[in-house]
Amino acid sequence: MTRHFLRDDDLSPAEQREVLDLAAALKKDRFARRPLDGQKTAAVIFDKTSTRTQVSFSVGVADLGGNPLIMDSKNSQMGGKESISDTAKVLSRMVELIVWRTYAHSGLEEMAAHATVPVINSLSDDFHPCQILADLQTIREHRAARNGGELAGLTATYVGDAANNMGHSYLLGFATAGMHIRVAGPAGYHPREDIVADAKRIAAETGGSVTILTDPIEAVRGADAVITDTWVSMGQEEEKAERIATFGAYRVTPELMEHAADDAIFLHCLPAYREYEVAPEVIDGPRSVVWDEAENRVHAQKALMAWLLEQA
Ligand code: CP
Ligand code: NVA
Repeated sequence: MTRHFLRDDDLSPAEQREVLDLAAALKKDRFARRPLDGQKTAAVIFDKTSTRTQVSFSVGVADLGGNPLIMDSKNSQMGGKESISDTAKVLSRMVELIVWRTYAHSGLEEMAAHATVPVINSLSDDFHPCQILADLQTIREHRAARNGGELAGLTATYVGDAANNMGHSYLLGFATAGMHIRVAGPAGYHPREDIVADAKRIAAETGGSVTILTDPIEAVRGADAVITDTWVSMGQEEEKAERIATFGAYRVTPELMEHAADDAIFLHCLPAYREYEVAPEVIDGPRSVVWDEAENRVHAQKALMAWLLEQA
């Protein structure tokens, strides 16, 4: 059966571990897997802008032996002109994989329902699961050695817009890894209740835990990793002034990092806004692992694509 990756919990805990192990192997031996030799093509479609996702999927598909077809949906028949189901059927006859960055998550679900090749969510309004695989790989590299090589049992805190795609994906993806995930945001910007419930159910199986907070200091206390994201996600530009006023207390500063574990690392999916969600002393300082995190998009996504193609 064709497998898709639309949400972080589309991979079971054991499957997520397989993908992360393969990501580590591919980081050491870049051309070890060639499932797209031929050259076969992967369509990588964008409704929103991107730097990392565009480049990491281009490089990743090429490394797997394939041809990345980067599509700006504005130059296609997508976007209301042709149905998602017809698009899914046409693309499935031509390409081996469909990677799509879009707005409404329901569009990805419709694409997956009609595609006969794997569909990968490369960011929707609700989730950014490819980013979470890269983040898990990065935390494993930097912190797991002190934890018997395991992600399970580590504590990560995400502060800021806990209602956005990153907040949701940290809940599901880190709970799947058996981690203790805390997310903190102001009232009105807490994660969706159904996603919190799903994450708690997963954490109960993996030995992790899920905590939703409002106080950023309480949230980062003793954490192994502190994470944030932009306060103004793509599509929310009109709310910028209101959001900046609301999120001020959630800025990650050296003072906030003092409350985390002594050698806590800092992650940010990027792009970062140093005047808002993170101080330059943190993101450009010794605790920051954001460049490893960005690089790991390539390795984690290659592992994901190779793994999904093997399941077909
Ligand atoms: N982190 C991330 O997805 O970056 P881009 O928007 O540049 O792809
Ligand atoms: N939350 C951000 C993530 C960007 C990679 C957004 O959706 O714009």
